[in-house]
Amino acid sequence: MRILLLSHAFNSLTQRLWCELAGRGHQLSLELDIADSVAEEAVALFRPDLVIAPFLKRAIPETVWSRHRCLVVHPGSPGDRGPSALDWAILRGEPRWGVTVLQAEAEMDAGPVWASADFALRPAGKGSLYRNEVTEAAVRAVLLAVDRVAAGDFVPQCVPGAAHAPVARADRAIDWQRQSTAGILARIRSADGFPGVADSLFGEPCRLFDAWPEATLRGAPGELLGRRETAVCRATTDGALWIGHVRRDGGIKLPATHAFPQAAALPELALPGWWKAPAPTWQDIAYEEAGGVGFLSFEFYNGAMGTAQCRRLTEAFRWASGRPTRVIVLRGGSDFWSNGIHLNLIESADSPADESWANINAIDDLAEAVLRCETQLTVAALGGNAGAGGCFLARAADRVWARDGVVLNPHYRNMGNLYGSEFWTYLLPPRVGADGAAAIMSRRLPMTAAEAVACGFYDACLPAPCFAVDVARRAAELAAAPDFADRLAAKAARRAADEAAKPLAAYRADELAAMRRNFYGFDPSYHVARYHFVAKSPHSWTPRHLARHRDLDWKIPA
Ligand code: COA
Repeated sequence: MRILLLSHAFNSLTQRLWCELAGRGHQLSLELDIADSVAEEAVALFRPDLVIAPFLKRAIPETVWSRHRCLVVHPGSPGDRGPSALDWAILRGEPRWGVTVLQAEAEMDAGPVWASADFALRPAGKGSLYRNEVTEAAVRAVLLAVDRVAAGDFVPQCVPGAAHAPVARADRAIDWQRQSTAGILARIRSADGFPGVADSLFGEPCRLFDAWPEATLRGAPGELLGRRETAVCRATTDGALWIGHVRRDGGIKLPATHAFPQAAALPELALPGWWKAPAPTWQDIAYEEAGGVGFLSFEFYNGAMGTAQCRRLTEAFRWASGRPTRVIVLRGGSDFWSNGIHLNLIESADSPADESWANINAIDDLAEAVLRCETQLTVAALGGNAGAGGCFLARAADRVWARDGVVLNPHYRNMGNLYGSEFWTYLLPPRVGADGAAAIMSRRLPMTAAEAVACGFYDACLPAPCFAVDVARRAAELAAAPDFADRLAAKAARRAADEAAKPLAAYRADELAAMRRNFYGFDPSYHVARYHFVAKSPHSWTPRHLARHRDLDWKIPA
């Protein structure tokens, strides 16, 4: 089928659907929801058999849905209607939730249902649920709906329901003097990563994100108990929780201690070393060991890795490589493995160019430490999505295993033609060939874990439900392999041969010379693109590599 995706943004769910539908042989194009007239023009040019709206913030114009079958992905169970569907589900503590694919009609979310899928509502933030359970359910439901449309004999039925109002500020207002940890956590989670819960810190209004329960610290309700790295801890009536990120009025979302420099005066509640804390707390870098395998997790919000985070992770990795293990698994975070350098911190720096330079050097140091590790075999285990430099940082490991369903964006040019570093010029071409590397970089399209393995970029795509168990089992097998010493020696020999052919320092210098032009040169594209990305400026056009109906040579197939 010819399918037009109409979406507010090319977000992770839209990207995943793009990959899944294209992989099934459908012809795809995308238009961002910029204006009714733009959507009308897109359907006139593309003449789709089907329009799918994976992520819209407003209704599809009648001129479009009355002439073309339009299927809307609603992040709610059948009968649920209206905005803030997932927010309400979290606030109400629903045990199960769902995704419904329904046909657009005059009344929002009330059209006939083509398919739905449900899931257990994990206690987690809205963004995390959206990127995991909602995305998986949406893929199942959309693929079923598309099959039903293609079959032509399915009659969708309307499901009775009533529209709920958007979540109002008062619906999730926080009262530190009266509410429990669980109550405050649910409120913050219902608004993560947008719009955040309105509150105040240090007497200043702000929005809270990225909350984590604290098992042991206690204090007077509302009291700020201390800080750890970039997070602050605040007491509730029955315990305490950590706030990782905040957005001050008129500002951008930042790690809490960056947004509020006053936090420096709070007591430092440092953890001793890198070992995973025995009880729940905020810990961005955590190390565990089992059966000759070290597992290094880095739970960096949104997968963004700032200069200090990269330096600390490099230190943790070096420490882990001194342990008596045979394999180190780099586990990343639960939602993202890595999205490269921290664009928000760069944007908020006094000199974004200097901070970009420091950050790219810090992430390169980390990649280099992984590449040069001679004491263990290394595995990058991607349970969450990765983008830009994060995809290549993973490739610095000896093996890369990704969870089925993970979406990867192994390219940089969407960020103002950024050249990229993280040794991608060393790591990518041998895997996919020079032409393959050039195509991945210039096409700027997402790829699934399965596609990354099929093209040779990554090594294994493991089933989703048992990914963590599978990774641990495979890593333990690697550690116990009878020929382990030979494999380690072969790795060292390969590295030495590569180094003799062209030193890592030369790859790095070449990449950084191009990055220096991006950061300090006369073309400001990267700085402009970063500003719009961080400020979440509304889209004003659809990138041409996605809006295929706007190609100059676009012709409707006969
Ligand atoms: N730095 C800071 N924040 C980042 C980030 C980065 N490198 N990458 C993603 N984020 C943030 C987004 O701003 C968003 O924030 P929110 O919580 O306020 O909504 C959140 O992470 C999720 O990102 P989003 O773009 O909504 O997710 P997605 O899954 O739809 O798209 C990417 C994933 C990777 C394609 C996209 O986030 C991206 O292009 N990131 C930038 C990658 C990059 O250029 N890195 C620098 C070069 S190494």
